[in-house]
Amino acid sequence: MRTEQPKMIYLKDYKVPDYLIDETHLTFELFEDHTLVHAQLVMRRNPEAGEGLPALTLDGQELELLSISLNDRELSSADYQLTDSHLTLQPDSASFVIDSSVRIHPETNTALEGLYKSGSMFCTQCEAEGFRKITYYLDRPDVMSKFTTTVSAEQHHYPVLLSNGNPIASGSEEGGRHWATWEDPFKKPAYLFALVAGDLWCVEDTFTTMSQREVALRIYVEPENIDKCQHAMDSLKRSMKWDEEVYGREYDLDIFMIVAVNDFNMGAMENKGLNIFNSSCVLAKAETATDAAHQRVEAVVAHEYFHNWSGNRVTCRDWFQLSLKEGFTVFRDAEFSADMHSRTVKRIEDVAYLRTHQFAEDAGPMAHPVRPDAFMEISNFYTLTVYEKGSEVVRMIHTLVGAEGFRKGSDLYFERHDGQAVTCDDFIKAMEEANGIDLTQFKRWYSQAGTPRVVVSESYDAAANSYRLKFQQSCPPTPGQAEKLPFVIPVELGLLDAQGREMPLQLIGEDAPVGRSRVLQLTEAEQTFTFVNLPEKPLPSLLRGFSAPVKLSFPYSRDQLMFLMQHDADGFNRWEAGQQLSVQVLQDLIAQQQRGEQMVLDQRLVTALRSVLENDSLDQAMVAEMLSLPGEGYLIEISEVADVDAIHAAREFAREQLSAELFDLLWQRYQRNRELSRNSAYVAQAEHFARRSLQNIALSYLMLSGKPDVLAACLEQFEKADNMTERLTALAVLVNSPFEKEKALALESFADYFKDNPLVMDQWFSVQAASALPGALQRVEQLMQHLAFTLKNPNKVRALIGAFAGQNFVGFHAADGSGYRFLADQVITLNGLNPQIASRLLAPLTRWRKYDSARQTLMKAQLQRILDSGDLSSDVFEVVSKSLAG
Ligand code: TRP
Ligand code: ZN
Repeated sequence: MRTEQPKMIYLKDYKVPDYLIDETHLTFELFEDHTLVHAQLVMRRNPEAGEGLPALTLDGQELELLSISLNDRELSSADYQLTDSHLTLQPDSASFVIDSSVRIHPETNTALEGLYKSGSMFCTQCEAEGFRKITYYLDRPDVMSKFTTTVSAEQHHYPVLLSNGNPIASGSEEGGRHWATWEDPFKKPAYLFALVAGDLWCVEDTFTTMSQREVALRIYVEPENIDKCQHAMDSLKRSMKWDEEVYGREYDLDIFMIVAVNDFNMGAMENKGLNIFNSSCVLAKAETATDAAHQRVEAVVAHEYFHNWSGNRVTCRDWFQLSLKEGFTVFRDAEFSADMHSRTVKRIEDVAYLRTHQFAEDAGPMAHPVRPDAFMEISNFYTLTVYEKGSEVVRMIHTLVGAEGFRKGSDLYFERHDGQAVTCDDFIKAMEEANGIDLTQFKRWYSQAGTPRVVVSESYDAAANSYRLKFQQSCPPTPGQAEKLPFVIPVELGLLDAQGREMPLQLIGEDAPVGRSRVLQLTEAEQTFTFVNLPEKPLPSLLRGFSAPVKLSFPYSRDQLMFLMQHDADGFNRWEAGQQLSVQVLQDLIAQQQRGEQMVLDQRLVTALRSVLENDSLDQAMVAEMLSLPGEGYLIEISEVADVDAIHAAREFAREQLSAELFDLLWQRYQRNRELSRNSAYVAQAEHFARRSLQNIALSYLMLSGKPDVLAACLEQFEKADNMTERLTALAVLVNSPFEKEKALALESFADYFKDNPLVMDQWFSVQAASALPGALQRVEQLMQHLAFTLKNPNKVRALIGAFAGQNFVGFHAADGSGYRFLADQVITLNGLNPQIASRLLAPLTRWRKYDSARQTLMKAQLQRILDSGDLSSDVFEVVSKSLAG
């Protein structure tokens, strides 16, 4: 808890550190009721920081200082100043050694930052500023040190003792204790430090690198999970190979370890040589994890592994540069997943996610640039903007310079900055120099917040055979940024003729056409491009592959969108045309509902989706994506004032109509695919993901019919499926159905069977919390009393409370404000237990501007109540105060 108001920290105030830490020698003595940490820091004056010997201020929080010495001279309390966040002392020479001993309490650490216990094991989470809760230190990423770590613990309960790097010694002590020493030969910032102690089993494998070095691979888990590691291990080996092939990056230690822990604030952490993972991002086998979970495990394993170069070997100078490692690494893992499975489907999923969640963040009170220039609490800036928009920014560079140019740039970046802590400017400079280009204007993507809008209009000159596209870009104001300058926006496009063929693209002034799909660069507020030699008026296919994170609009008619759905050579844009058609149709229904009229579905949507279903040659995952109507979250995001009830009613009406009109086709597809699932073993591969995704979306439509045959099929799938993908969908479909008896039975038998598997129980909670049927809040409150629920586990909080507030729009936005009050209650409780989770859980309340004035008032009242509850963490304080400001 803070004692003073948290202060703003500004990028412009960055200064190099006054002192450096060349070596860090740590000893941990782990006990059940406390832990002792001894730190020896071999330090020196930073030659780049100027003359003289300024005072040395070390970071430290929640530490009980037992002793401290300078060059072996024990200091008394008169020799240093101690506050609740710092220790200051005066060095008397340019090189010196500091020894300190502190007592800490991992056993009562519920914030899950620093050293803490997850179940019976000890583990750490130091990013971003958790190391200061372990020992007094210069806890900033530009201080890089060589670490040696000794861990001692009782042998029986903690047979496995791990830290970064290579094991160099171990032994037993008296009294049933033992110890191990690890040495990490690579200099690293403290945020990459890790320690694990526990009763763990491991799955082992090896990887031979491109220079023929053999690396030991180990995944450590609690014994009951040893059967759920193979998928993560396979994913790791594929990631290592891919990073060699695509980026020329080889692994550098002799051992690479992953440890799965149940209590973890985020997905996973890239600690050098010892990645620590939320168990939800490691454990996967057919019976207990869905296809989506398998893909998430693969992506997160890859993400953390890729950080070894983009993050660890080359790290961030300060936390404002977070996207340097995160945006780049998200881009790397997205490309990896695209190469492993279907590129188009991966892109569709990522864009749908970005447009629903990041666009909402960009339009809310916490909007910030990819490189923020101020923060109170850095934990609040592990955001969709830094990660996902940051990745889009890297993707645009890739689009502008091409795959080869990008590889030249990344090679230069890694070689030039290996072992350094650098900035986003250094990354850009490497891309510029390797490609001989100027990215000065492009860099506005790092400094300006908000989602740019691009309005496109056309005109065709039949006499001249020329076609003009006019682009107008603008960007709405965001907190602290009223005016924006034009961005560099790469717009990939094609022009289709009346048969749907791509026409040759020749701009006025060019001697010959340049391909049939090309990238235009917008750089000004308004710009016109004229294409020539076009004997007929084309239909443009714009922003192919979502080539920039913008809101682009073009006045397509519904017939034109249907045409693009059928003919566009770009798979992403075929899907996008379907989404735009669906949005138009749903917006009509929403307006009808609001006017109290009978809703009538535009038959063109039925026709369009029928032809998708009738086409047996389409990738089944694409068919499934096309059949998925835009989510309620996205419909809210694109509304001026979101009417959640009308949105829900309209979307459900459309789903029922589609179910009725397309019943036979859906039923055929369902039965065919379910038959294949029944007769083949589970495989975690694109083709099988595709088959099950179509089967499952078909089932969710079919169930809306209420037909007994469909109910029977759903129950058969629920009971007989050999995998969680089919079983969970059947459960979710039942939970959202009116079949009360079958629903209750299914929920009960599922919970009974999986009660000992916390990750599966998370799914069970989520499915119920997300159901929009009446009584949602009472259900959620009841589920909080369930034996498997605890506020101390972030996965449980996300599964139940997070799913209710973030996915159940009708339930959360109940007009009486009960959902808001409930969320505020949970945030206030969690603020004392786990500030990072409390702050993240708050996001739905910060979006109050999207709703009608009655709801705005109710939402703000709850934010105010949180603010007034007193003793707020810096995490919660920053989000609440910014949400109420202005
Ligand atoms: N660097 C981690 C990642 O992207 C993020 C992370 C894991 C994190 N745990 C955290 C950030 C705790 C803040 C707090 O993979
Ligand atoms: Zn990351």
